[in-house]
Amino acid sequence: MAKVLYIISNPKPIDKSVSLKIGRDFIEGYKKENPNDEVVEIDLFKTEIPELDSEVLGIHSGIPVLNPKALDKISRINHFTDQFIQADKYIFVTPLWNLGLPAKTKTYIDTICIAGKTFRYTSAGVQGLLENKKCLHIHSSGGFHSKDPQSHADGYLKDIMSFLGVRDYKSIIVEGHQAIPDKALEIISSAKAKFPEIIQWLS
Ligand SMILES: Cc1cc2nc3c(=O)[nH]c(=O)nc-3n(C[C@H](O)[C@H](O)[C@H](O)COP(=O)(O)O)c2cc1C
Repeated sequence: MAKVLYIISNPKPIDKSVSLKIGRDFIEGYKKENPNDEVVEIDLFKTEIPELDSEVLGIHSGIPVLNPKALDKISRINHFTDQFIQADKYIFVTPLWNLGLPAKTKTYIDTICIAGKTFRYTSAGVQGLLENKKCLHIHSSGGFHSKDPQSHADGYLKDIMSFLGVRDYKSIIVEGHQAIPDKALEIISSAKAKFPEIIQWLS
């Protein structure tokens, strides 16, 4: 039985969101093929993810903080780090916002990149500590950006996963449905056509 983290990052209701709808269809298909897996959903717009502020970084620098609010933030960050370490597979579902990922996705990423826990510095460079994990990114953009060097969404997530040691990475990119609205249904269908192959890889 594998543990799957299904991490969604969109404030829209599902019926108004291309990425959330495709993500939901994907995870339902995945569950059918893997009924014994444990899937935990994290909705980043409904979960309080602490930011790396002065209190949090103060504690990490070894400065004692007696403030219970700061300790609570650290404890929640530790929860997200440990939950990420304990999972076997990750599915991120994101929209493209202004050539990047929503800020809440980045705030979450800051809770899982913890030196000594998910990566470490060595004289030979950075070593990711997460082994034998897989990551799928389901990502939607209104225009075409998958080959755009100015877009920092899928490439960024792939780099971060690699930094943590998660090199088995694939993405389903749904792009251009607003640039060519007439082809929106076709664009969505061709993304869904990839499900069987990706479910097999992730299973
Ligand atoms: C705040 C915001 C910023 C956006 N920035 C971009 C962008 O840089 N490039 C682009 O092609 N589409 C952009 N879009 C359009 C979305 O990427 C597109 O609507 C996509 O389908 C969003 O996913 P969703 O339908 O799951 O919400 C933006 C939309 C919003 C709301």
